[in-house]
Amino acid sequence: MPKQQNILGIESSCDDTAAAVVRGVPGGVAQVLSSIVVGQTELHAAFGGVVPEIAARAHVEKLDVSVIQALAEAKLNMSDIDAIAVTAGPGLIGGVVSGVMLAKGLSVATGKPIYGVNHLAGHALTPRLTDNVEFPYLMLLVSGGHCQFLIATGPQDFRRLGGTIDDAPGEAFDKVARLIGLPQPGGPMIERAAKQGDPKRFKLPRPLLDRAGCDMSFSGLKTAVLRTRDTVIAEKGGLGVQDQSDLAASFQAAVSDVLAEKSRRAMTEYLALDPIAPTLCVAGGVAANMTIRSGLETVCHEFEAEFVAPPLALCTDNAAMIAYAALAQMTERAPDDMTLSARPRWPLDSVSPSMLGSGKKGAKA
Ligand code: KG4
Ligand code: ZN
Repeated sequence: MPKQQNILGIESSCDDTAAAVVRGVPGGVAQVLSSIVVGQTELHAAFGGVVPEIAARAHVEKLDVSVIQALAEAKLNMSDIDAIAVTAGPGLIGGVVSGVMLAKGLSVATGKPIYGVNHLAGHALTPRLTDNVEFPYLMLLVSGGHCQFLIATGPQDFRRLGGTIDDAPGEAFDKVARLIGLPQPGGPMIERAAKQGDPKRFKLPRPLLDRAGCDMSFSGLKTAVLRTRDTVIAEKGGLGVQDQSDLAASFQAAVSDVLAEKSRRAMTEYLALDPIAPTLCVAGGVAANMTIRSGLETVCHEFEAEFVAPPLALCTDNAAMIAYAALAQMTERAPDDMTLSARPRWPLDSVSPSMLGSGKKGAKA
């Protein structure tokens, strides 16, 4: 029986400093022994988005203590670790460099192998860590920094069917919250306000539904909310609580409709592969939204596919997914060496045409 390995994971590509230990058989099942995530929300709050330089400095301060804590919670020493996995991109370059430098230092000091991992592969492989989902599966990544449909056919094999050409949905939720006077983080605040709102009061666009394929756009939707808000203010002299709730509900419904309809198209392409156990998996902070989730569940129902959403702590940025990705990939790839470099852009799928745009949380592919 193949030997279990303890993998130390390190993640610092955006605004979460994370370290984790995952134990498992290379290419097989694994368990999370510890997962430490230190957020930076309050450091960026005054700036309306993640400030790359502030993020990088905060990572430098918190990376070593996060690793120490992850080892302590896993009740292991560095000598018990078999390999070091680190996010080597895509992301905000200062943060990625911080993580890669720490991982290289640890590797040189301890002689342990180092694996540079694509952050998106970490997200995309998580359903195998949490739910043992079989390849090939369909994956929707929806967060503040990502938005794409992928078909995962192997630990290193992903086909991108489409993605956002501008903002990511979480980014749009955050911007719209600001526009209508709700606090950050915008996603949960809009979801809460929308519960009291009428999703049909304002007719907002469903961008790119008239275009074939799975590409999406959320920037125009945000502008439509801005115009609608200004019209209401001009007519009524201000934005009341009910107006705010109705705008939140109308916006949320538009995002949900777009994601559901594009999922139908992605599902059709995916089912052409004739998967034995058709599954749509979702990851990213936006997957917490119950309206969006139920839209996706409806699509799965229509296509008789399973719907898998890993627990939120493993759906949002974390280092367990990075450690697990290295464990999943190590049967078919060699470790990296000291030439490993940090990459601001690193498309998972090098065949499909690259996507446009780079949001407040860095490059999306
Ligand atoms: O995956 P995540 O924690 O971080 C990255 O973006 O990398 O996702 C955070 C994003 C934020 O933009 C936040 O507003 C959004 O996910 N979000 C939500 C909800 N909870 C978090 N969006 C809509 N509805 C929610 N309930
Ligand atoms: Zn992410």
